[in-house]
Amino acid sequence: MIDFKKIIAEAISKVLEMDALEIEKTIEKPKGPDNGDYAFPCFRLAKTLRKAPPMIADDIKAKIKVNQDEITKIEVVGGYVNFFVNKELLASEVLNKMAKENDYGKSEIGNGKNIVIDYSAPNIAKPFHIGHLRSTVIGGALYNIYKYLGYNVIGINHLGDYGTQFGKLIEGYKMWGNEYDLETDLIDALTQIYIRVNEACKQDEELLNRCRDNFKKLEDGDTYCVELWNRFKDLSLKEFQKVYDILGTKFDSWNGEAFYSDKMDEVVELLEKSGKLVKSEGAKIIDLEDKGMAPCLIEKSNGSSTYATRDLAAILYRARTYDYDKALYVTSYEQVLHFKQIFEVAKLLGLDQKYIDGLEHVPFGMVLLPSGKMSTREGTSIKLIDLLTEAISRAKAIIEQKNPYIGNKDEISRKVGVGAVIFNDLANNRVKDEVFDWDTILNFQGETGPYIQYTYVRTKSVIEKAQGVPTIENVHMKELLDDASIKILKLIYEFEDILIQVTDKNEPSILSRYLIELAKSYSNFYNENKIINEDKNLQNARVYLTYSVGNVLKIGAGLLGIEMPEQM
Ligand code: ARG
Repeated sequence: MIDFKKIIAEAISKVLEMDALEIEKTIEKPKGPDNGDYAFPCFRLAKTLRKAPPMIADDIKAKIKVNQDEITKIEVVGGYVNFFVNKELLASEVLNKMAKENDYGKSEIGNGKNIVIDYSAPNIAKPFHIGHLRSTVIGGALYNIYKYLGYNVIGINHLGDYGTQFGKLIEGYKMWGNEYDLETDLIDALTQIYIRVNEACKQDEELLNRCRDNFKKLEDGDTYCVELWNRFKDLSLKEFQKVYDILGTKFDSWNGEAFYSDKMDEVVELLEKSGKLVKSEGAKIIDLEDKGMAPCLIEKSNGSSTYATRDLAAILYRARTYDYDKALYVTSYEQVLHFKQIFEVAKLLGLDQKYIDGLEHVPFGMVLLPSGKMSTREGTSIKLIDLLTEAISRAKAIIEQKNPYIGNKDEISRKVGVGAVIFNDLANNRVKDEVFDWDTILNFQGETGPYIQYTYVRTKSVIEKAQGVPTIENVHMKELLDDASIKILKLIYEFEDILIQVTDKNEPSILSRYLIELAKSYSNFYNENKIINEDKNLQNARVYLTYSVGNVLKIGAGLLGIEMPEQM
């Protein structure tokens, strides 16, 4: 497709004798259509060129050479040079590309680069709760989008299957296992036991030490502890899988924390060699005071390993196994300090600088209920499987009311209910806390997943009324020069760029916002233009545009992990 921004940047660069790529970065998109399609601000040049911005802008306008077939008008407004692109050319570029390619917006810019994404990572023997849902959904969207751009992506479920909490569970199980119904719902029973041990440990130092010893025993291969641990793990994985099946989540690796049990000695050795590993009250730590952080605990006083050490072993392993360009960690912002610490300590492992530079924490905010924060330890968290089931049944109730005779109700409700939950997780800037409110997320007219699905379904029924999508040869671009059509064409033109922006910031909400804007623009187009028309040329062009919108909505939502119903 023709790259208008690049063309403009190159033409400006010839006038100013400056780097075209630098110029391209500063080109803006004006809000309303009056100021053109692209604007070049001259303010920052004032100092170096010793001229007022409007004069620089005039100068550029006077000297610039562009192809009239591509750029039809150039205007100076204040310190800006505004460029108007040829709309018929724009329409033709976009729609012809749509006609040619099955996977519109797919690209190869990521070829040859390896991206490791660490996401989901629920903890064994604890319920899979809503915080892990966010990690699963955000990580899953990033996974899909990087892939679509041609990167080699490795999705890792770094399961929380190791650590003192297992020592606690084993102890609690030994003491009270027979008081609970372990057959019907082991996870539920274990959660209760976990809460109870935690409470008891607060009063009883001796008990806490026994728990710690259990974990040490587990690490040393004690048969009883290992057997119990295996049982907890198998059953938990079965539970987790139910959620992944509903969400459609996939991983390339399930190497959790325990996987690194035999890989931590090397970490300790390397850190010892660095001379920075020091003893403190019997434990081994890396002091990070000069970096303004608390020390990083590498080995506890009883010799057992820590969450941090397992993450350091994972960095070594991932660098060697996947030769990553980026290694992303999708967790709540509660772990900001943890990742700062381990990224700092990772510098002592003797890895290539590339692997240090590639490490990136992708934090996200909490999910808040109207009643406040959730925590497993206090037992106030909602189980994800219950939440998803409820979303589906609420979606079903709405669909039954809106469209009682529709077929495939179960499948549609699943797509709508799950889509609503996923979209809600991705709708806003990820670091913002999110309030989970049923009425908002399932509102068909709000900025929601169901609204995007509803718009898609609408494009389908328009196409049906028109008895199919016309062939591109029958589409006359000059029929699409009204504001509503152009708005849509410009959005579709930008799709690949939107995906690139998502990967630049690891921010899927850029795509969610985009899809909302596209859906709204289509609603506006639909209200303003008669699509099914006596004028067949007009109809063909409008139906083709409708088809293109549907396509991008479906591809974009699919990348977020949301399936489209064909009816709703
Ligand atoms: N299991 C951890 C938790 O629930 C998240 C793990 C994130 N990944 C990592 N490599 N530390 O908090």
